Amino acid sequence: MSNRKSRWQSVSLICTLALLWKYQIVIAQASGTVRLYNFTDKDIRLVGGNSELEGRVELSINGIWGTICRDGWFDYYDADVLCKMLHTNLSALEYYTDGRYGYGTGPVFYRQLLCTGLEKSIHNCSSLTGETCSHSSDVGLICAGCSRVTQRHYGLLEHVNITSNGDVYTGNCSNGSSYFQFLYRCSLNGTWEEYGTRCGPLAVREVRFVGGVGLYDGGVEVLVGDTWGPVCGYAYSNSRSYYSDGHVFCNMKGLKYRTRSVAWRYNTTNGFIGKLQCSSNTNSVTLCNYATVYACQYQLGVSCDGFPLNMNSISLVGGSSARDGRVEVRIENSAGTICQDNFDSKDAQVLCKMMGFNASSSFYIDYHYNTTGRLPMIQDIQCTGQESHINNCTYRTPYFNDKCVDGAVALVCSDCGSVNVSNGQITSYNDTSRTLTIRCHTGDQAYVQYICGNDGLWNKTAELRLLLSTLTIIITPPAAFL
Ligand SMILES: *[C@@H]1O[C@H](CO)[C@@H](O)[C@H](O)[C@H]1NC(C)=O
Ligand SMILES: *[C@@H]1O[C@H](CO)[C@@H](O)[C@H](O)[C@H]1NC(C)=O
Ligand SMILES: *[C@@H]1O[C@H](CO)[C@@H](O)[C@H](O)[C@H]1NC(C)=O
Ligand SMILES: *[C@@H]1O[C@H](CO)[C@@H](O)[C@H](O)[C@H]1NC(C)=O
Ligand SMILES: *[C@@H]1O[C@H](CO)[C@@H](O)[C@H](O)[C@H]1NC(C)=O
Ligand SMILES: *[C@@H]1O[C@H](CO)[C@@H](O)[C@H](O)[C@H]1NC(C)=O
Ligand SMILES: *[C@@H]1O[C@H](CO)[C@@H](O)[C@H](O)[C@H]1NC(C)=O
Ligand SMILES: *[C@@H]1O[C@H](CO)[C@@H](O)[C@H](O)[C@H]1NC(C)=O
Ligand SMILES: *[C@@H]1O[C@H](CO)[C@@H](O)[C@H](O)[C@H]1NC(C)=O
Ligand SMILES: *[C@@H]1O[C@H](CO)[C@@H](O)[C@H](O)[C@H]1NC(C)=O
Ligand SMILES: *[C@@H]1O[C@H](CO)[C@@H](O)[C@H](O)[C@H]1NC(C)=O
Ligand SMILES: *[C@@H]1O[C@H](CO)[C@@H](O)[C@H](O)[C@H]1NC(C)=O
Repeated sequence: MSNRKSRWQSVSLICTLALLWKYQIVIAQASGTVRLYNFTDKDIRLVGGNSELEGRVELSINGIWGTICRDGWFDYYDADVLCKMLHTNLSALEYYTDGRYGYGTGPVFYRQLLCTGLEKSIHNCSSLTGETCSHSSDVGLICAGCSRVTQRHYGLLEHVNITSNGDVYTGNCSNGSSYFQFLYRCSLNGTWEEYGTRCGPLAVREVRFVGGVGLYDGGVEVLVGDTWGPVCGYAYSNSRSYYSDGHVFCNMKGLKYRTRSVAWRYNTTNGFIGKLQCSSNTNSVTLCNYATVYACQYQLGVSCDGFPLNMNSISLVGGSSARDGRVEVRIENSAGTICQDNFDSKDAQVLCKMMGFNASSSFYIDYHYNTTGRLPMIQDIQCTGQESHINNCTYRTPYFNDKCVDGAVALVCSDCGSVNVSNGQITSYNDTSRTLTIRCHTGDQAYVQYICGNDGLWNKTAELRLLLSTLTIIITPPAAFL
């Protein structure tokens, strides 16, 4: 029924040729270390892969070849039964439903397969007819004589080739290079053997923290070659737990290590590093001990303290003039804010001084800014007021255990200095009219306005009580009701 070449015959041919040229290969085969398959006259075949152990599943029923549909239900139990039909010693290494082996033709025999994994044939599993499926849902498989669990060393095993030295499984090195492949051979006793090329050592070029609160905390990723991959935080193997160290990643950035989270994210793939152990002062990952891994059950999270920050610029934005607005800090390509916690007018003085304004100033909290792309960068700043740069004050950078509450520091750097707002909150400043508007903390909608006079003093000009219906107009845009 099948016109495929017998694998047994092709191997025999290779043996004969090898016998003539390469004595050693013949010895290896004669001693029974190579898996041999006979795919002749099977009513199952894998099509479109590198070998008969890889491809789109095709079944023959009464001489008609057709495919199997993947619909949410398909799992390794079903895949194992299919591989076992190919050869009793096989089980599924991986199954695919992304059409990578091409679309089949003919009938789609089954969907909603529910095998227990013990059936001898797929026809013995509970199923529905696949009539309603299209070939874009055809199931593809890689079968192997070795188990699934130990396959992920340097990357995902993606292909299998049947060679004169046995079944050789290959995958791209997850060391960041897509040009190199690693090889495993499935030996007769069911263990994976490293075979040929190994993936080279990891040359970690860069580290970054992803998904954290600020710039210097989050899930750790390293750049190897041209690929970013996660560092694993926790691994359990041979009844031992392995936790990865975190301080090396802060050291690499010249920052102080604060804390780590061994389970930042779950089940990330394309991981590079696990079980990382470093001596405490090293600033190079390559000097640490680690295992290379493909899948990370738990990604490492790290928090470093960024103080003192190396700022490109600091400016006032979103205000009505050059003298007021939210403080925007820029570091490399990121824009950031200053958190409101414990901020006081002494801190405001230093910031205004830094930006070239009069030492005296007022501040308020901007709750209404667009937070997208604006990271909190400075937290708990404490200045005496005498400093000329905030790096002469103390502060911390925010992190996952100590987040900033929403709201960024905004300033009014005016000639009249600080207004003592004991029971209210500055909402805006108009530099043309030199008018400061303060919302009172009383239950009703009351506002007070101050004008900065030519004598350098604030003059309280008006108290306003507003109806709720006009409130929205007043709040946005700021100072609209003057
Ligand atoms: C299948 O497994 C049996 C029992 O372990 C073994 O004797 C046989 O050689 C295996 N066949 C192949 C092709 O690996
Ligand atoms: C392979 O299987 C076919 C069909 O079962 C059989 O006719 C053939 O003899 C087998 N080949 C070998 C080398 O065992
Ligand atoms: C499996 O299917 C075959 C043929 O389709 C049938 O002869 C056999 O009885 C079935 N076995 C079980 C356990 O259902
Ligand atoms: C499979 O192995 C054979 C023999 O080693 C080799 O000639 C062939 O190029 C390989 N095919 C693939 C797709 O790797
Ligand atoms: C593996 O490498 C090949 C060739 O460079 C590439 O086509 C393929 O997409 C890679 N696979 C993965 C999973 O990166
Ligand atoms: C399995 O076979 C390989 C070589 O084929 C050998 O290196 C390995 O030690 C064997 N493992 C076991 C558990 O027998
Ligand atoms: C990845 O491994 C290959 C194979 O060993 C090696 O040649 C290559 O240099 C490695 N790439 C990186 C970026 O480490
Ligand atoms: C991670 O994957 C494992 C194995 O597939 C699974 O048991 C576990 O539930 C997954 N964890 C999460 C949080 O998804
Ligand atoms: C918020 O800022 C981001 C980034 O600057 C921008 O893409 C987005 O359109 C802004 N959203 C609003 C509502 O202005
Ligand atoms: C601020 O720090 C710089 C360098 O760290 C130092 O030279 C300078 O004297 C400090 N100034 C004040 C006012 O503390
Ligand atoms: C304060 O403002 C009031 C009303 O606008 C004005 O009459 C008064 O002269 C101002 N005081 C000073 C010191 O400017
Ligand atoms: C600031 O005050 C000037 C003069 O009173 C006025 O023309 C202008 O509209 C005000 N600006 C804003 C943003 O309210």
